[in-house]
Amino acid sequence: MSGHNVWTHKGTFLLAAVGSAVGLGNLWRFPYLTGENGGGAFILIYALTIFAVGIPILIAETMLGRTSRQSPIMGMRHLTKTHKTSRAWESIGWLGAASAFLILSFYSVIAGWALHYTWLMLTGSLVGADAATISAGFDALLASPGLMTLYHTLFIAFSALIVGMGIHKGIESGLRIMMPALFVILIVVLIYGVINGDVRAAASFLFTFNIADLSLEGWLQAMGQSFFTLSLGMGAIMAYGAYMSSEASLTRTAIAVAFVDTAVAMVAGLAIFSLVFGAGLETGQGPGLMFVTLPLAFADMPFGALVGGVFFILVLGAAISSSISLIEPVAAFLVERFDMTRPQAVTIMVVAAWAMGLLTVVSFNIWAEGTIFHALFGRSAFEFIELLTNIFMPLGGLMIALFAGWALTQSEVMKELGTNITWFKTWRFLVRFVGPAAVSFVFLRTIPQVEGYVVPTLGALLIVGVFALSQRLRKSA
Ligand code: PFF
Repeated sequence: MSGHNVWTHKGTFLLAAVGSAVGLGNLWRFPYLTGENGGGAFILIYALTIFAVGIPILIAETMLGRTSRQSPIMGMRHLTKTHKTSRAWESIGWLGAASAFLILSFYSVIAGWALHYTWLMLTGSLVGADAATISAGFDALLASPGLMTLYHTLFIAFSALIVGMGIHKGIESGLRIMMPALFVILIVVLIYGVINGDVRAAASFLFTFNIADLSLEGWLQAMGQSFFTLSLGMGAIMAYGAYMSSEASLTRTAIAVAFVDTAVAMVAGLAIFSLVFGAGLETGQGPGLMFVTLPLAFADMPFGALVGGVFFILVLGAAISSSISLIEPVAAFLVERFDMTRPQAVTIMVVAAWAMGLLTVVSFNIWAEGTIFHALFGRSAFEFIELLTNIFMPLGGLMIALFAGWALTQSEVMKELGTNITWFKTWRFLVRFVGPAAVSFVFLRTIPQVEGYVVPTLGALLIVGVFALSQRLRKSA
């Protein structure tokens, strides 16, 4: 059974988890959110959340994968049996699989845009272009379902190829080439930004802390981002954890993943804002920061086309190493549960996510308005799918924290963590109280956006709370 597979090296889990964590979230989402939310104060909250909530939940999720040694769904089923807890906790696995599927569907479309820009940069099509031309070019891409579908197809097919080749020949080998290359490219882009841009302005923007710059909304976005960037609550980390060596330290590995992920986001932010300030452009551009503002900065710089091309290759590589981690949990489940071959399982997952991705493609053009999604939810299909994942992600994280902190037999957990009692107690306090409180806070933020869903959402929260309590009572009885 594939669940008994283990990575070739003790350190491969770290490589794989970093590959999953570092992605569009670091290079595309983090810089624009920071830009929109006033810089330093946003980063402070983000870093605090990573530390107090992200790392403990990362440890918990990896642990669930490693102790069960199976895909998230089968693994959760196994744990509910061996720890004699309610079967309902199995929903963590199902929720993760559903979220991975939904995220993959739109992640691939956005990564496809990076493919388009790699091409434009390397062919020199944007050299010397002005703001109006570049922004019209982005609009033209969004207006073309055919072109977007082509890029989406290429991206998802390539990711599928890697996962289809198995965890050793495909994922491990792929990551071993991709990840070091990404770090080299990131440093090249940073050096280029320092030489050709305004790194002082970028540093003072990113690292000057002024709490007045931060709205409550910004606070909540910082917390949400720290979940997305660490790939938490979606089964990806659990699936990779199932292949983790029993000798590797959960705590040290989780800290290393969070550290590298944060460092990449900071370096990317520094490089991107150096270029943006150097070219005298706006920081608060929103999602267009990477696809409009940055190409504009490259258009006017020495060797801009080449470095721009290299930059978008970085974006693509980071996106691929994340998208493979979204395919793995579902593919591994299909292999375990239905005895499929890996290529069959990957094909089913990817074809379904590809088809779902078409909804995101048309949300930017032919279905930009007037669809059933607008009528029912007041937003496009893409925005609706994104909203769903924004709900599932903290919900998954919350349930993982509660399950690991309250429902599991704590003596077993302590054995698995393999640390001293002080750190065990600190970790347990964080997953029992701090994590759930913080996550509920992020989670409740989405409620006003969901209007009619207030009651079911609160109901779900309540059910989770009752479960936690009942498990606890049972354990102490
Ligand atoms: N962490 C990835 C990023 O920052 O781009 C996104 C992601 C990948 C989220 C895998 C969730 C996941 F399971």
